[in-house]
Amino acid sequence: MAAIAALCALLALTIPALSAPTEPRQVALPGALDPYPTKPRVTFREDGTFKITVFADLHYGENPWDAWGPEQDVNSTKLMRIVLAEEKPDYVVLNGDLITGENTFRQNSTRLIDEIVAPLNEFQLPFSSTHGNHDNEPNITHLEEIKREQLVAPLSYTRTAPPGIGGEEGPGTYWVPVYEHVDDPTPVLILWFFDSRGGWTPGSNSTPVPDWVDDSVAGWIEREIAAMDAAWGPADDTRAALAFVHIPPHAIQALQPGLNSTRDPGLNADVLGSGSTQATTNPANIGKDQPFWESLNKNVKNLHAVFSGHDHGNEWCVREPTMDVIFCFSKHSGYGGYSDSWWGHGVRNIVFPSPRPTDALDTWIRFENGTIQARVTLDSSYN
Ligand SMILES: *[C@@H]1O[C@H](CO)[C@@H](O)[C@H](O)[C@H]1NC(C)=O
Ligand SMILES: *[C@@H]1O[C@H](CO)[C@@H](O)[C@H](O)[C@H]1NC(C)=O
Ligand SMILES: *[C@@H]1O[C@H](CO)[C@@H](O)[C@H](O)[C@H]1NC(C)=O
Ligand SMILES: *[C@@H]1O[C@H](CO)[C@@H](O)[C@H](O)[C@H]1NC(C)=O
Ligand SMILES: *[C@@H]1O[C@H](CO)[C@@H](O)[C@H](O)[C@H]1NC(C)=O
Repeated sequence: MAAIAALCALLALTIPALSAPTEPRQVALPGALDPYPTKPRVTFREDGTFKITVFADLHYGENPWDAWGPEQDVNSTKLMRIVLAEEKPDYVVLNGDLITGENTFRQNSTRLIDEIVAPLNEFQLPFSSTHGNHDNEPNITHLEEIKREQLVAPLSYTRTAPPGIGGEEGPGTYWVPVYEHVDDPTPVLILWFFDSRGGWTPGSNSTPVPDWVDDSVAGWIEREIAAMDAAWGPADDTRAALAFVHIPPHAIQALQPGLNSTRDPGLNADVLGSGSTQATTNPANIGKDQPFWESLNKNVKNLHAVFSGHDHGNEWCVREPTMDVIFCFSKHSGYGGYSDSWWGHGVRNIVFPSPRPTDALDTWIRFENGTIQARVTLDSSYN
């Protein structure tokens, strides 16, 4: 009898489950919007802070047929190990121009990705990348770098945009959610990454690639925000955001003459002009990134700042007044890529003091030798 009762109880439990119609999963369920179901969640520290270290313009792979190119890469890897050991970040961003693609070979260019991610794998740090104009060349593409990174770095959060988004040779547009605690239903911070393209198409009949974030990204941002709001509720009091894009938005070029070195500290040695912000090379294309820039700033709430690399001689932050958003350069990290003896190499650090979405961030430049400079607090009174 007991056995039959147990069997009945078992059937009662199992039958409804077996016969339940297979309903489609509700898209708007809290927590359902997770682009990384198989990866550990990126979270704030137990003390409520969150620190990002940005390496920019690493430029691996210069002149492999000479001694100095490979020596530069040894130096860059050494810098990464020193900085990661001392800074102990919670997340790392590689902000474009990982590789000097014009010097690499078709058969093995992506092997440089293995070298670049080795320190991140060793320190078991979650990270993701944007890609730059030097990452699109006849022998390398953004997509090839992304696929290699996904293959060889278990904690890479770099993704590709859906088909049709990002334009020619610009697949690296995506976002990464950051949670306060690992079991929370909704994130407190969204890190956005955009592909500003540039460089050259692959193959022997190579042609130039547009050097701005494609128009298609503007609508994509709006749709992603709608999906986030549906799944998690409005961002206003709940979620902060940061954005990373290799080539500075075009709107930044006009702000350099008005910089004040007390208010906007940091190296200011690269004059922005042709090719140094998005869509400046051809006068017909000036400001082609405006649909992206407007959509980003209109749709993404609590956007604390936008970070670019590309111009190795610049470290400053500034407020972009038309969109009322703060922009900051990263820091040239790699021994490869153009430089001047006194610029030094290092990283930009960004620290969230708490998970509250409107609390001001601290950010500064750290050199390889530990010296810091250009520290600013990014709050509503900044600039
Ligand atoms: C590598 O770094 C050392 C200092 O640690 C420096 O003397 C050397 O010039 C660097 N090599 C290159 C090729 O940048
Ligand atoms: C690309 O790779 C091929 C084959 O490895 C090599 O011959 C060529 O010099 C490389 N560079 C360019 C710019 O094509
Ligand atoms: C790629 O191949 C070239 C030519 O054989 C070699 O000089 C270079 O060191 C290789 N690069 C990598 C990253 O393996
Ligand atoms: C530069 O900024 C500092 C600090 O905000 C301010 O005291 C100074 O007047 C500014 N200089 C100019 C030339 O605007
Ligand atoms: C650290 O490196 C930077 C950049 O090369 C240099 O300007 C600074 O003087 C160095 N600091 C120390 C304490 O050596």
